[in-house]
Amino acid sequence: MKNCIAFVLDGKVVEVAFGTTSLFTPTTTVLNYLRGLPHHRGVKEGCAEGDCGACTVVVGELTAAKKVEYRAVNSCMLFLPMLHGKQLITVENLKGPAGELHPVQQALVNAHGSQCGYCTPGIVMTLFALYKSASKPSREEIADTLAGNLCRCTGYRPLLEAAAEACSGDGRDEFAKDEARVVDLLNSIPCEGISISSGEQCYDQPASLNACLALLEKRPDAIVVNGATDVALRVTKEFEVLPQIIDCSRIDELREVASDSGALTIGAGVRVSEVMKIVRHDFPAFHQMLELFAAGQIRNVATLGGNVGTASPVGDALPVLIAYGASFILRSRKGTRTVRAAEFVRGYRKTERRTDELITSIVLPRPSARTKIRFYKVSKRRNLDIATVSAAFKLDLDRGGRVDDIVLVYGGMADCTKRSVTTEGFLKGKPWDRRYVEEAQRLVDNDFSPISDVRGSAEFRRIAARNLLLKFWSETNV
Ligand SMILES: Cc1cc2nc3c(=O)[nH]c(=O)nc-3n(C[C@H](O)[C@H](O)[C@H](O)COP(=O)(O)OP(=O)(O)OC[C@H]3O[C@@H](n4cnc5c(N)ncnc54)[C@H](O)[C@@H]3O)c2cc1C
Ligand code: FES
Ligand code: FES
Repeated sequence: MKNCIAFVLDGKVVEVAFGTTSLFTPTTTVLNYLRGLPHHRGVKEGCAEGDCGACTVVVGELTAAKKVEYRAVNSCMLFLPMLHGKQLITVENLKGPAGELHPVQQALVNAHGSQCGYCTPGIVMTLFALYKSASKPSREEIADTLAGNLCRCTGYRPLLEAAAEACSGDGRDEFAKDEARVVDLLNSIPCEGISISSGEQCYDQPASLNACLALLEKRPDAIVVNGATDVALRVTKEFEVLPQIIDCSRIDELREVASDSGALTIGAGVRVSEVMKIVRHDFPAFHQMLELFAAGQIRNVATLGGNVGTASPVGDALPVLIAYGASFILRSRKGTRTVRAAEFVRGYRKTERRTDELITSIVLPRPSARTKIRFYKVSKRRNLDIATVSAAFKLDLDRGGRVDDIVLVYGGMADCTKRSVTTEGFLKGKPWDRRYVEEAQRLVDNDFSPISDVRGSAEFRRIAARNLLLKFWSETNV
């Protein structure tokens, strides 16, 4: 489709045109689009950076089984073309045919779950997505679901109670009754790629990997996005005009997952919330990392490829992927190559990826039963926070209890994710005893010159890095 997108809103297919006379650009956020409509102003802006959840809406998407799957997302971080072929649901859409409240709204009323009400539409939408996806969620699941919604006045007890009450039933509602009709509407939207050219910006959303690679070859300066949870901040916070964007979020090949006895291969476009389900049993340290990753609304959009693509020194995935010995598959029109996660980052936000390449998948070798891998994240709060220091460690001991192989990776300690090679070298071949680990703690300093910033001083980072090694020893010395 050219200069036009289509999605379902208010029970019908809506088209939005782009171009020099349009009110919208391809980086107009869904939040700003909605705030410009007369009947969708329940959605609020709090932070415009994914931290408060006031802007939460729900996106419905067709599954392979021809059902609609509902995800809560932050509309402040979602570019309008990312809605193409999907259903957009806002708080205004929740009322029933006779104006009655949706069960999640009624439960919030019953539990006195709103005071000033600023956060309430966002909370309602987060709980609506939970209502549609989980039956009888545990208190932990509810608390995790609400971690992306800040409420400064009501307090979370009534919200937790309301969620438990609302989600105790069978999930039936007006949306369930209308699902078949919405499936037809979604199927009626052409599913080919979209191409938008609007004044200073061009935005392409190819529908296949080959089409995407051809575009990348033609446009070496284009910015690749998938979930855009990192890139969108350049628009919402820095007010940058991004001239060329290639959005690979609709490429099915990037969402493939394959598993065999040797490795798990995860498509670079698999969303973090899906990755959590895939790695839960076989890669516990990876799962543990993802439990601390942002909050639901971000995880429902952000991808694994996007996380490693940022090459952020405080990105959470890279340390743990290096510890697991993962590698990345990079594809261009010229061919495919494999780069080890440990060799992917070349400096501050610089990677091995050439401009004509896309990360297509991440290969995670299955660790042996005796391998111990842990992830640690030191941050000012548990949820929805950036690491001050993070670490992922891997240990293999020989039968005599000596260190056969050890990998010590740190985030937040340098301009990129980095291994403490001096410490690794010292520990190799030594007994896994506290006295050697205490000696090794002092060596961690040799590999890093951390900076002081708002998250922590250099000294704090050094102490935390040393202590994480001791913590690892205490957890694995059994
Ligand atoms: C509120 C908030 C909380 C966050 N919390 C965390 C957190 O706890 N831990 C953490 O690590 N990060 C966090 N992030 C950062 C961000 O959400 C993640 O890095 C996320 O995984 C990025 O994925 P994405 O698909 O949205 O990437 P995008 O923004 O689409 O892209 C990010 C970068 O990767 C590149 N890229 C994307 N896909 C590909 C591909 N297939 N091939 C090659 N390059 C590609 C892009 O060009 C871009 O440079 C947070 C962000 C926000 C806004
Ligand atoms: S406005 Fe705060 S998360 Fe979107
Ligand atoms: S009710 Fe006031 S911020 Fe939540």
